[in-house]
Amino acid sequence: MKTLHVNLSDRGYPIWVGEGLLADAGALLARRGFSLAPVVIANRTIMRLHGETLMRSLQRAFGRTEIIRIGDGERFKTHATLLQIYREMFRAHADRRSWILAFGGGVVGDIAGFAAATFMRGIPFVMAPTTLLAQVDSSIGGKVGINVAEGKNLIGAFHQPAAVLSDTGVLKTLPKRELASGLYEVIKCGAIRSERLLRYLEKKLPEILSCRAAELQHIILAAARIKADVVASDEREGGLRMILNFGHTAGHAFEAATGYRKFKHGEGVAWGMIAALAYGRELGLMNTRDSARLVRLIRSVGRLPSINAISVDTLWESFIRDKKFQSGDIRMIFLRRPGEAEIHTGVDASSLRRFLKKFLASGGNLI
Ligand SMILES: NC(=O)c1ccc[n+]([C@@H]2O[C@H](COP(=O)([O-])OP(=O)(O)OC[C@H]3O[C@@H](n4cnc5c(N)ncnc54)[C@H](O)[C@@H]3O)[C@@H](O)[C@H]2O)c1
Ligand SMILES: [Zn+2]
Repeated sequence: MKTLHVNLSDRGYPIWVGEGLLADAGALLARRGFSLAPVVIANRTIMRLHGETLMRSLQRAFGRTEIIRIGDGERFKTHATLLQIYREMFRAHADRRSWILAFGGGVVGDIAGFAAATFMRGIPFVMAPTTLLAQVDSSIGGKVGINVAEGKNLIGAFHQPAAVLSDTGVLKTLPKRELASGLYEVIKCGAIRSERLLRYLEKKLPEILSCRAAELQHIILAAARIKADVVASDEREGGLRMILNFGHTAGHAFEAATGYRKFKHGEGVAWGMIAALAYGRELGLMNTRDSARLVRLIRSVGRLPSINAISVDTLWESFIRDKKFQSGDIRMIFLRRPGEAEIHTGVDASSLRRFLKKFLASGGNLI
């Protein structure tokens, strides 16, 4: 097991990464100072696959442990599920001294974290993320929340976990598309901050895709460190934290333009990065060799669902509806070179739209 410390002024916490950690969860958390049993929040899928290992370990350390099961999928990240969680917590006699253990992917982490942020005005929570995306991204940074009809993640809070426990072993049961989706976020971390991570990914991709423990541990730690560093220096998203949105402005638009049905989030981001790389090259911000190298790495992860059926009008609609766009000042993240990101403000809307039209017409093959 390796430990990474997230340094936040008053609320630092450890991220533990290792193979088979779930079986030690109880002991690790007891050593961290927890003495009561947590309320575990999870969905049925993850409970069926890995619930027994976790529960046995928690029961050994804390005795009887309550589980709240929620529906599986983004469509359950709603206030209705949140109310279900509150109700079941009251029924289980949870109070201010209780704490939550979020066991699952980003959906469970976001909603269980928001329940922890709001139940009795805030109780502690621990994350045990079980998707690659959750281990490298959503479990770090303290953003928690739910979706509403008006949009995704529009209701939420900042609530930092007391610890994050990432077992690389659970990723073996993850569907390949979900694994790839998380991997695109890892590539993003390398692209904005670490050429070294990019080189590692280029070299070890087959081992990573076959879920070899050592390689997974390496990339999870590297990506988590990058996100944690960026977040620690800009906890509430004033400036630097924006670089984590590389590929996300266009990525969100690809997701929204297809009704959030065609692409996994990471796949949208992969297309968003490819588009940003192509546009950056066109603007003369990055040379052809570097941008082609990154596109090659992104494409070598697997086949992306095609963007052929998307019209530029639909895509543009989604672009300008994005909450980050609405100030009228269009900001985009570009790379100077692999491992180095740059925030650009005042991106020209009409040339961006022209570029997107060309990008779509090429099927995303401008590079
Ligand atoms: N808070 C943040 O900073 C942040 C950052 C990025 C994403 N997110 C949020 O994260 C969510 C996406 O998270 P996700 O990609 O983890 O999706 P997810 O939580 O829906 O998990 C994907 C699927 O994999 C299943 N699963 C989970 N672990 C598994 C395992 N080990 N084996 C087999 N199946 C498993 C889940 O049940 C689900 O069906 C979105 O709601 C997004 O908004 C939040
Ligand atoms: Zn993302």
